[in-house]
Amino acid sequence: MIRSVIQGCGAYLPEKIVTNAELATKVETSDEWIQQRTGIRQRHIAADGEFTSHLATKAAQRALDASGVKASDLDLIVLATATPDETFPATATRVQAALGMTRGSAFDVQAVCAGFIYSLSVADSMIKNGIASTALVIGAETFSRILDWNDRGTCVLFGDGAGAVVLKAEQGQGTSHDRGILAHALHSDGRQHDILYVDGGPSSTRTTGYLRMEGKEVFKHAVVNMAAVVGEVLEKAGLTPADIDWLVPHQANKRIIDGTGRKLGLPPGRVVLTVDKHANTSAASIPLALESAVSDGRIKRGDLLLLEGIGGGLAWGASLVRW
Ligand code: ACO
Repeated sequence: MIRSVIQGCGAYLPEKIVTNAELATKVETSDEWIQQRTGIRQRHIAADGEFTSHLATKAAQRALDASGVKASDLDLIVLATATPDETFPATATRVQAALGMTRGSAFDVQAVCAGFIYSLSVADSMIKNGIASTALVIGAETFSRILDWNDRGTCVLFGDGAGAVVLKAEQGQGTSHDRGILAHALHSDGRQHDILYVDGGPSSTRTTGYLRMEGKEVFKHAVVNMAAVVGEVLEKAGLTPADIDWLVPHQANKRIIDGTGRKLGLPPGRVVLTVDKHANTSAASIPLALESAVSDGRIKRGDLLLLEGIGGGLAWGASLVRW
């Protein structure tokens, strides 16, 4: 059985850091309020002229270096973003050109904060179907560009960044002991559009628009849907919460992450948390969290990782990966 095995990962965060205290000089908020409600202490913000494709290319190059894979070996790039450089073409093609990759295919996936899980699933399916054998999966965002900086209910929550993994087709035994991606579960519910969306777009308003959110509603859906989808993906793989070594969740809010960790019976030390330093980087948050725990040696070969996330759509999902 063909498995998509993660060879390595990479991350990139813009240089500029904005603390809660700095935000409090611009909107009526406080470090205490933001930390208490979300766990966020700071976020990285892209510089003028620094686009999603630039962040993505840097993270992708680091993932290639960590994997010992050359750009010329790649035959697929799937890039998750809700903040593309341009309406078209896909930001993935910008990354393809910047890396010097001239064959295969490159395209974007739009599933907002669930984008990395969706992209991992698309790339895994293409590898299993023989359409690709060496793939880059990237989550990259510049959410700072779609924030209403006068809306304290949303502007304090997000940051910019990018993370990437390299997948390669390898032969597995078809058991849960195989290295690589073991299972996915994906969902969406378009009826929930109005609780989290951007009020602009090329077809509707011919503007880029700003993020709009009913935070309390999103919070409720996140807790319920995350609890359900982690159970579903474990069942698909024939595994139980006791088998999980690391929860690598989308980093929206520490309270949502703590809730999922508790539901799985995981001690806090087994949950990768970066929301304090990165804030919510949408599609980039899972690969950024993954890279942090791989590079500091917490995640080791053979560990079972549960990746999960939810965002606008609503769209949500989970993946089980044997590192
Ligand atoms: N600073 C100070 N006060 C604030 C701020 C702020 N930044 N933002 C809102 N408030 C005020 C509100 O105006 C309100 O004041 P009022 O009582 O006088 O009307 C009060 O704080 C409470 O506001 P709520 O919105 O009810 O606060 P809540 O406890 O729900 O926390 C939050 C808000 C943090 C957004 C929470 O609902 C949440 O985390 N929701 C999940 C949303 C999320 O993470 N979205 C990310 C995208 S989707 C995803 O990635 C999962």
